[in-house]
Amino acid sequence: MILVRPEVEALAPYNAGMTLAELTARYQPARIAKLGSNENPLGPSPHVLADLALDSATLRLYPDPACSALRDRLAARLDVAGDRVIIGNGSEDLLSVICRAVLRPGDRVVTLYPSFPLHEDYATLQGATVERIGLRADLTIDVAALADAAARGPRLVIFANPMNPTGNWLNPAELATIATATPRDTMLVIDEAYFEYAQGPDYADALDLLQDHDRPFVVLRTFSKAWGLAGLRVGYGVTHNAQFRDRLDRVRTPFNVNAIAQAAALLALDDPGHVDSVVALSRSERDRVGAFLTARGLTVVPSKGNFLFFDCGRDSGEFVEGLLRQGVIVKPWKQPDYTSFIRVSIGSAAENDHFMAALSGLL
Ligand SMILES: Cc1ncc(COP(=O)(O)O)c(C=O)c1O
Repeated sequence: MILVRPEVEALAPYNAGMTLAELTARYQPARIAKLGSNENPLGPSPHVLADLALDSATLRLYPDPACSALRDRLAARLDVAGDRVIIGNGSEDLLSVICRAVLRPGDRVVTLYPSFPLHEDYATLQGATVERIGLRADLTIDVAALADAAARGPRLVIFANPMNPTGNWLNPAELATIATATPRDTMLVIDEAYFEYAQGPDYADALDLLQDHDRPFVVLRTFSKAWGLAGLRVGYGVTHNAQFRDRLDRVRTPFNVNAIAQAAALLALDDPGHVDSVVALSRSERDRVGAFLTARGLTVVPSKGNFLFFDCGRDSGEFVEGLLRQGVIVKPWKQPDYTSFIRVSIGSAAENDHFMAALSGLL
């Protein structure tokens, strides 16, 4: 007997991608380019490792449950009140907290598709039904369909901007359309995991934009991507008001962010220049890899993330195995209608060269 709720049985296992150890065990490649999880090839600021002073007390004592220092630092940086900021064990923790706080069985959730699977999974787990808004035939976001679905008043509207896995994004006018269409008794969650890579005039900074909309929302960001701290698990959310942040606090586990993660995130914030270098590298390499894929006749979705989503023109399973044999880890997309698509993260120039050489061999 497996005594779980039917909602749990309905969940597909999360496709977390292959680890270095798993690939080594399978194919013993001479070198590995790990381009399946949108990690940052430069890692965190060197300042983090140099100054992270670990002592026995850090390990012996429970961490600050409120993450006060990090919360206040982020609040100052973002120019919002500290009591609207919540820190999570990665932003995925906060996705789960929001769904548990907001969703009841039978509620409706609207999201973009193809989607970051956790946007759907935590909703499904709550017994909610998920309405997917697919891309248009030209692989762009169907803003009108998203606005229509949001206007029908689901309990929750949640999507990533830029989207994962596609990388496409909403500009300020488009996000304003969605925010205006979404009723005030619908929670609007904008997941900006790739915010730093996307920033610019044609990208909607949700925190900035939603200030002018008197409505409930959460904007999520993370230290896992541009800040290079995926291994430590620290993300954050900014809510529309302190009351909602307080309710999320009641749902999360009390010590959800460990002491080392809190300290490292604070140190990372001391060196924003490092993030500028990360973003500059990622953007120029994304252009290079994108041009390469396009020149090979492959369809590539325009991206503002540190990754590209492309159609390899056949079922991606065997193709991806061919890349793995050559030491390249990418993410074959498994959701219906996109099983010929692959998401490749933008790595260092050497990793991207490795990917492109391996791909050329297969084509
Ligand atoms: C859109 C999106 N949201 C959230 C996450 C989770 O990030 P974190 O490492 O902060 O949990 C990811 C990770 O890939 C992501 O792509």
